[in-house]
Amino acid sequence: MSPAMVGTAAEASDDERQFQKGVKHLCEKAISRVPGKYILPVHERPGRAYGEDAAMRRKLLSLPLIDFAELRSSLDRPRALRSLATACEQYGFFQLVNHGIPDEVISSMIDASTRFFGQPYEERAKYMSSDMTSPVRYGTSFNQSKDKVFCWRDFLKITCEPMPQVLPHWPSSPTDMRRVVASYAKETKYLFLKIMEAILESLGLPLPAPGRGCVAEDGGIMDRLQEGSQMMVTNFYPPCPEPDLTLGMPPHSDYGFLTLLLQDRVPGLQILHGDNWVTVKPIPGSFVVNVGDHLEIFSNGRYKSVLHRVLVNSTESRISVATLHSLPKECSISPALELIDEGNPRRYMDTDFASFLAYISSCEPKKKNFLESRKLSS
Ligand code: OGA
Ligand code: NI
Repeated sequence: MSPAMVGTAAEASDDERQFQKGVKHLCEKAISRVPGKYILPVHERPGRAYGEDAAMRRKLLSLPLIDFAELRSSLDRPRALRSLATACEQYGFFQLVNHGIPDEVISSMIDASTRFFGQPYEERAKYMSSDMTSPVRYGTSFNQSKDKVFCWRDFLKITCEPMPQVLPHWPSSPTDMRRVVASYAKETKYLFLKIMEAILESLGLPLPAPGRGCVAEDGGIMDRLQEGSQMMVTNFYPPCPEPDLTLGMPPHSDYGFLTLLLQDRVPGLQILHGDNWVTVKPIPGSFVVNVGDHLEIFSNGRYKSVLHRVLVNSTESRISVATLHSLPKECSISPALELIDEGNPRRYMDTDFASFLAYISSCEPKKKNFLESRKLSS
């Protein structure tokens, strides 16, 4: 090999190491172009996918609105349940307002996350880990050990249960981080359970008495969700000099029953609605709630886990906090027996949560290919 070639290879691996440190780190040196590592093939770029054009991308979609206060009122609940069913069938997404979580809990979560990402790289890097089972993981892109093209996103993933065991692993800086995350995790878990009760009712399923099952012999779905898994993902998307060449997150569906997403006032989330990518209009302080793969299976395909992705922009950074809720990791997920009959045959195989997590850590989880692999052909 000529000396020049050696230099090029060494430079390339040095760049590779830099990219592993994330986009926040990359943007700390002023850059005016997106490095090749982040440039998507033309047909996957945001401006081109599904025949979309720039004007369409600027149009903001108002998601179906679900008023949590109406769900709690016996007078308004039946109508709110019908809206909930329609939203989950037709969009896989809805916007939840009047959710009852104190403003202070919400604003502190955004604020503490902003301060976490604002810390020097060395402080954030303490939580970097390639171990998918680690209770806290700081990282970049979607699956940074597998992605060929990187996404314009850094993240902090925090396992929220069992809280007494995991809390001592959470970031200790900023100093209020653990307190803020603990209170946000408890509030979102409670809200998740209340929304799930409404979802069961909207599916026509009986709300099981504690300890009595409506799906499996081993206890009720609500009991199992109560003891279930909760993962908090804080996403940070710095401004990007060439936002049309890359994405903050590639098209994906979420694995759990529901994701509760808090986004700041900067638009970026897009959902696939019909054949079009549409940008969701942010309503600060409210939650975007979406159906995950496990609820699609549980509802035997009636409620849809819909593909979504994230755009970045050239002027503002954006923060979002997603909490993903499901059953305990050792449980398997199957369609509710009440939703299977001659007219509605079982559409999915039982799915073991642990093998699902192994699957997403072993490959690039593009599109809904895991869910597709669980479908029974009819
Ligand atoms: C996610 C996600 C969307 C966003 O974390 O799974 O889809 O707007 N986030 O950050
Ligand atoms: Ni998602």
